[in-house]
Amino acid sequence: MTTFGPVPEPARLTIDVGGGMRGRTGGYDKRLGDMTGVYRDGEAHAGAVTERGADHLVYRVEEHRAGDGPGALIIGTSTLAPGRYGDEFAMTRGHLHAKADRAELYHCLSGRGVMLLETLDGRSEAVELGPGDAAHVPGYWVHRSVNTGDEPFVTLFCYPADAGQDYALIADAGGMAQLVVDDGAGGWTTRPNPDHTGYRKDAA
Ligand SMILES: [Fe+2]
Repeated sequence: MTTFGPVPEPARLTIDVGGGMRGRTGGYDKRLGDMTGVYRDGEAHAGAVTERGADHLVYRVEEHRAGDGPGALIIGTSTLAPGRYGDEFAMTRGHLHAKADRAELYHCLSGRGVMLLETLDGRSEAVELGPGDAAHVPGYWVHRSVNTGDEPFVTLFCYPADAGQDYALIADAGGMAQLVVDDGAGGWTTRPNPDHTGYRKDAA
């Protein structure tokens, strides 16, 4: 029998394709200075910090939370600025959910990008997203957003409120196994990251 706890309030959210969310309860910004160590080409990142400043906004999350129990959802938008650091495209830090079995939906609202997905045992997938496309990120997949276009890459996301994020996993592994890079012909491709040392198998 289902036990009822406090009943959260319903919400009407108004979400625009630029990532704005009316009805949000929170969010956060990431700035260029927060991304030290994320890109393989540290010199290119340091040059961008010198040029644009450590406070330059690189991505923004707006989100709505109505509870944090095991059945609650977090609904939000992620807006990732375009850019290149060496041949790597601009990206989020990436994570595995702390409760690793928790899945997530990403629906592209505007811009173009890739959802890079990896398992702890070495599988990789790069799901290309344009407006109207959605990626289902199942549990147990490390994931990050990558902006492969020239405009902000905006996604609507939804995931369980008790999922949490393990951000250290990627840093401890020397980065994700694959890099999403310029293919030299106006598009993107992936290539293995020579610095990747493998993920901690105890993470999940
Ligand atoms: Fe996630």
